[in-house]
Amino acid sequence: MIMSNKKPFIAGNWKMSKTIPEAVELVRELNEASSELTEAEIVVIPPFTALNDVKNTLPGSSIQIGAQNFFWEEKGAYTGEISAPMLKDAGCAYVVIGHSERRQYFGETNETVNKKIKASLAHELLPIMCIGESFEEKEKGKTINKIETQITEGFEGLEKKEISQIIIAYEPIWAIGTGLTATPNQAEDVHRFIRNKLAENYGNETGSCAIILYGGSVKPANSYSLLKEEDINGALVGGASLNSESFIEIIKEAIKAYKEK
Ligand code: 13P
Repeated sequence: MIMSNKKPFIAGNWKMSKTIPEAVELVRELNEASSELTEAEIVVIPPFTALNDVKNTLPGSSIQIGAQNFFWEEKGAYTGEISAPMLKDAGCAYVVIGHSERRQYFGETNETVNKKIKASLAHELLPIMCIGESFEEKEKGKTINKIETQITEGFEGLEKKEISQIIIAYEPIWAIGTGLTATPNQAEDVHRFIRNKLAENYGNETGSCAIILYGGSVKPANSYSLLKEEDINGALVGGASLNSESFIEIIKEAIKAYKEK
């Protein structure tokens, strides 16, 4: 699949929220508005239990589906885990890898992120790889160091054509669910670093075509100013994606910002 950052890419990570009926109602509302939102790539990322019903609510829709996690093995005795082919079967085109909550609570590391990226690409599931620094790291001036390590170790052994299939989401941990958003300038500095690093390691085209999302307290009120930044191609939205009205507003603001850049 060829990726492009010509449109803003807005993904809603629902985390551990929504029953099946609630999920279906939310995507129904989003789908009704989707004909006005064709200038954005929209992805919803429900919990596993709702994936299949969400898919069945969106036949022929431009809204795509992602999962929040998976295990790198294809199948077997791994109680409690879900594989890439299972996610494909449930209708997913994308999968989030290495979200900070998984790194913090479930022991994910750059090494497991790397294995998951390889497994997702092998099954044509596009990875949304999350990276970001903690509050302490930011305060100590270690943001760029942290990002560089996460990218280098997460991408270990991957080739240029694989790198060009990876969506990167910069999510400063201190901005997630806290209401503290990185300022557009703070976010842009990190996004520019990421793009330049990709260009340096994998060529200018890989750098310029990369889709780099920002995540961390994205709301209708800050979506425009973040998306207006040159190197911010979209948003990974948590809390504000749980409600159709605010998620649609974020998408509209992103479309407006993209047109004006
Ligand atoms: P919030 O938008 O709730 O801060 O969550 C961001 C996030 O973690 C998305 O993956």
